[in-house]
Amino acid sequence: MKVLLINGSPHNDGCIKTALNEVSKTLNEEEIETEIVDIGNENIRGCIDCKKCRELGKCVFNDLVNELVLKLKDCDGLVVGSPVYFSNANGTLLNLLTRMFYSCNYDLSFKVGASVVSARRAGCSSTFDQLNKFFTIRNMPVVSSQYWNNVHGYTKEDTLNDFEGLQTMRVLARNMAFLIKSIALGKEKYFPLKKENKVLTNFMDGK
Ligand SMILES: Cc1cc2nc3c(=O)[nH]c(=O)nc-3n(C[C@H](O)[C@H](O)[C@H](O)COP(=O)(O)O)c2cc1C
Repeated sequence: MKVLLINGSPHNDGCIKTALNEVSKTLNEEEIETEIVDIGNENIRGCIDCKKCRELGKCVFNDLVNELVLKLKDCDGLVVGSPVYFSNANGTLLNLLTRMFYSCNYDLSFKVGASVVSARRAGCSSTFDQLNKFFTIRNMPVVSSQYWNNVHGYTKEDTLNDFEGLQTMRVLARNMAFLIKSIALGKEKYFPLKKENKVLTNFMDGK
């Protein structure tokens, strides 16, 4: 069992990485393998809605996005971490996730998802809500903790002193491990679920 963690920050040893390390360490204690990928210094362009991914089965821009989509296939969970930039997730991470989730051509159902955010002061809740939307359009159960998944800090040292934030991360990781293991058991007993052909209603059709 494996979880992929994506660090959206340009700081490879900053606040959000400190939070992700806490999640990762606790997942390892629960015998879940982890891999953290730092993407914040990559040049990741946005989606251009060319729809080529529908033909190619991958994004037309062959960069880290396609690599991470492949990596995620073998994982049972995904954690995305972002610093708060003007009460939103940072742009590089949003470009990456938008293209990953649009171009991914396999079923993400029941891979669990969690987002983790870090702010000096404010904007965590809106960023947390924003990131969770990626999971909830792909049948991915969102893992929660005993508080919304945020840490506070301007430096790594600040985050190491955010004891409540770090505890939130450990509880999140244990909840995630439990859900991954429970879903594996549930799949043995209850899968496959009944599938419906997907209906698309574009409202401008007037039908
Ligand atoms: C462009 C930019 C915008 C920011 N906007 C906010 C903000 O809206 N609220 C806040 O509390 N901190 C804001 N910050 C500070 C970072 O969110 C904060 O320092 C974060 O914990 C850094 O995490 P990192 O070390 O993982 O990059 C901003 C920082 C930058 C560079």
